[in-house]
Amino acid sequence: MRIAIGSDHVGLELKLTIIDYLKELGYDVQDFGAYSSERTDYPVYGVKVAEEVVKGNFDCGIIMCGTGVGISIAANKVKGIRAVVCSEPYSAKLSKEHNDTNILAFGSRVVGSELAKMIVREWLSVEFEGGRHQKRVDMLDNI
Ligand code: RB5
Repeated sequence: MRIAIGSDHVGLELKLTIIDYLKELGYDVQDFGAYSSERTDYPVYGVKVAEEVVKGNFDCGIIMCGTGVGISIAANKVKGIRAVVCSEPYSAKLSKEHNDTNILAFGSRVVGSELAKMIVREWLSVEFEGGRHQKRVDMLDNI
């Protein structure tokens, strides 16, 4: 599975931890920036990762900023993206099973690295259930 990953400067440190973690788990990860702690703007990275996912270059994306809010809003502006911002694993799991989320976001100022790993692992370990949820996801995609 190929994963596109991105963050702003606030999410950088946690992103590097998550990249190492994903590589340990055997995922193919590509970092779309930011590459330094110099102040930058979260929409740039939310959109970069989102575009890679909708183009089909990556199976899914993981993005971080201080809260995960701004970067997930940016990603959700890209047609075909269903990004969720989570601070616990239950919502991450259900967001995949019911909403077919293709981008996971979280906040480096909200979750610690161990909780972030747990959220990521949960999100990656489940599949969209389809069935009654498909119609609702289609409705989302048609908005
Ligand atoms: C940057 O200071 C901060 O606003 C950003 O990382 C994020 O939390 C926005 O939603």
